[in-house]
Amino acid sequence: MTKDKVLIFDTTLRDGEQSPGATMTHAEKLEIAELLDEMGVDIIEAGFPIASEGDFKAVSEIARLAKTSTICGLARANYKDIDRCWEAVKHARSPRIHTFIGTSPLHRAIPNLTMDEMAQRIHDTVTHARNLCENVQWSPMDATRTEWDYLCRTVEIAIKAGATTINIPDTVGYTAPVESADLIRNLIATVPGADDVIFATHCHNDLGMATANSLAAVEGGARQIECTINGLGERAGNTALEEVVMALKVRGDIMPFSTEIDTTKIMNISRRVAAVSGFAVQFNKAIVGKNAFAHESGIHQDGMLKNAETFEIMRPEDVGLSGTSLPLGKHSGRAALRAKLNELGFDDLADNQLKDVFVRFKDLADRKKEVFDDDLLALMHQNSGDEDRLKLKSLRVVCGTEGPQTADMVMEIDGADVKTSATGDGPVDATFNAVKALFPHGARLQLYQVSAVTEGTDAQATVSVRMEEEGRIATGQSADTDTVVASAKAYINALNRLLVRREESAPGYDVKGVSYKDR
Ligand code: KIV
Ligand code: ZN
Repeated sequence: MTKDKVLIFDTTLRDGEQSPGATMTHAEKLEIAELLDEMGVDIIEAGFPIASEGDFKAVSEIARLAKTSTICGLARANYKDIDRCWEAVKHARSPRIHTFIGTSPLHRAIPNLTMDEMAQRIHDTVTHARNLCENVQWSPMDATRTEWDYLCRTVEIAIKAGATTINIPDTVGYTAPVESADLIRNLIATVPGADDVIFATHCHNDLGMATANSLAAVEGGARQIECTINGLGERAGNTALEEVVMALKVRGDIMPFSTEIDTTKIMNISRRVAAVSGFAVQFNKAIVGKNAFAHESGIHQDGMLKNAETFEIMRPEDVGLSGTSLPLGKHSGRAALRAKLNELGFDDLADNQLKDVFVRFKDLADRKKEVFDDDLLALMHQNSGDEDRLKLKSLRVVCGTEGPQTADMVMEIDGADVKTSATGDGPVDATFNAVKALFPHGARLQLYQVSAVTEGTDAQATVSVRMEEEGRIATGQSADTDTVVASAKAYINALNRLLVRREESAPGYDVKGVSYKDR
């Protein structure tokens, strides 16, 4: 039996990056796009070109660099957005414009358009997009809360105007599997011209049903799933790419659909997205969580030793996890490090990159008896900091039962060294106060989280912080065997990202602040 193909549309760089604090730098976006392209994603939604100069540049460059994936950009239902989107994606071997408008009563009320006026707007904007690009995707935002008749009417208009893919978003994660399947099935059965286009499903996870709803939509006839790595996305996130792809692979018996995804690349890209977005993956997350292939209870361990299939429905290697995990130590040489990094998916390191990693590995191995795979991944995912405006040069902290806890700090700010001594309510507070004294800012710390990379008292700590400044949010992450040093670096990393955001963001241009002016 030949399986029907399901296209994988990844929107980590657009819908995923929209989640508060998940902002990525230009270099990070290019890197994630390259990994998505390599893993076989059919369509990459690379950004929202009109949102900022940074988004425009990222989408244009990704369009130029992509080898096999179609490159898509998002545009609201106005000519200015669509023209800007085309300017960015037109460099791609295979470009796509994705234009959308909120069709539900709540969303129609925002631009204050009547049903007829909105129908006309859809006709005009899709026609305009199609005159620029052969590949046009149209989405009725909040489709699952749009009146059935109006949804059919707008989908028909978009198809007639030249849309080649119709995406049905469950914008607020409101639908349920049976309804999701019926919605697509009924649209295909009802709307004239539906057989000539591809229907896509785009689900959010507010009720924890995004993956189930996406797979149900495929049952109903959708042939494109929109998703993000690790399910990154606004609020509770989007459908997770790894979940739908592995579900199709493992349950091909009841869901006979194929994808082009090389599943062995999943673990690497998941870790990379977690590192650059600052959104750590929860331990028990399906497929990519730290515990997804861990077995603790005696019965499970016994079963695993006798036959792994007793408690595993897929092999760790299927998602790119290496079977063995022998730690390296301070006597391990460059060849052993290269071999281990190859195993972990870093197989194209140039000699000078390896040299740099080796120095950092030796430094870590001096402080830590055994360097595990997770330690190496934390090290590899550490931002080199070369381009950062703010850098930590040194830190000495006094802490313990006798106060005051004090932090003596030297930072490099825009190339010049500055130093201070600050006190605080504990060593971390003193450290953050020192950063604030050296680089005064109004950003508020929203979240401070510490977790251990591996086990033992010499384990590295990974620290995540989230900061907010005038509605802009940025996260920072760092790992170190010294928790306070990791905290300082994570805090400074978040500040560096906020500085980038300050330069890049053009307030008022985001998906939620849908403006219908500038047509
Ligand atoms: O969730 C949503 O409705 C979206 C649209 C822009 C497609 O992300
Ligand atoms: Zn969305």
